[in-house]
Amino acid sequence: MPIDPENRLSQPQFAVTLQPQAWRFDSGAEESIVLAARRAGIRMPSSCRNGTCRACRCRLLEGSVVYAVERPGLTPDEKEEGWILPCVAHARAPLVIEAPGARVREPPAPLPATLTGARR
Ligand code: FES
Repeated sequence: MPIDPENRLSQPQFAVTLQPQAWRFDSGAEESIVLAARRAGIRMPSSCRNGTCRACRCRLLEGSVVYAVERPGLTPDEKEEGWILPCVAHARAPLVIEAPGARVREPPAPLPATLTGARR
């Protein structure tokens, strides 16, 4: 039996496209879009990751989301205009999101080829 510590294999997956980069990744129905992006090596702007600071705010161009928190920090007008908080939003359909602040995550710095001791 395959090991699935995040239970990703048993949840529906939805394609997410970030614009203007046209980067694509899959997001599970039970994970936040920010975490799914991170798993794919993409860093979306975020801070609190609980739907209050609004650092992650971006616009949903296509698709639909539901929220993991009862009151995400968006006004009714912002919701109507398509703004979402991807740190607490879960995909419910294929998504297209305008996220100009997204970046490819930096890979960890490589270790030196050889380790040397203190010199005398
Ligand atoms: S990171 Fe704070 S609201 Fe999304």
